[in-house]
Amino acid sequence: MCEIWFDAAGACPSFLPLISISVPLILVQENMTWNEAQSYCRENNVDLVSVYSEEIQNWVERMVRSATSSHVWLGLRFSCRLKLWFWVTGSVACYQNWVPGNGSGAGHCGNTGAVQSGGGHQWVSLPETQKLNFIWNKDRINIL
Ligand SMILES: *[C@@H]1O[C@H](CO)[C@@H](O)[C@H](O)[C@H]1NC(C)=O
Ligand SMILES: *[C@@H]1O[C@H](CO)[C@@H](O)[C@H](O)[C@H]1NC(C)=O
Repeated sequence: MCEIWFDAAGACPSFLPLISISVPLILVQENMTWNEAQSYCRENNVDLVSVYSEEIQNWVERMVRSATSSHVWLGLRFSCRLKLWFWVTGSVACYQNWVPGNGSGAGHCGNTGAVQSGGGHQWVSLPETQKLNFIWNKDRINIL
């Protein structure tokens, strides 16, 4: 595991107040399904990371270079009913960084979001059942 502290400024002013808090991220170099990973986080009273802004994305990019899986789970899941991507904190994903064409459209039921460990470190929509490393916030961020 490795740990980095950074200032997270909330992007998305139409949905969220601008915030600036110090957030530790932890990369867990174990392979779990998305649900296993989120349950594991919840047992520790944290969530999978929510990438609200480019600034958080930059820190995620630094961390995933140490991952052992080709992709790393983010706290991102697709609502089949609303056909939108949501963070586990409940907010709509307004900042997004998908591999071009990958996260768009409606065909993502049962999928969750991961970031590429290499290349452009962009996001992909993958079946929840894939087993990947994951990143969590060490402390729960309450922004809503
Ligand atoms: C996780 O999976 C990758 C390949 O998918 C493998 O190289 C790595 O050793 C696995 N890590 C653990 C802790 O099992
Ligand atoms: C998104 O990328 C992943 C990983 O490369 C791939 O498995 C998946 O099929 C892609 N989805 C779409 C809709 O292109």
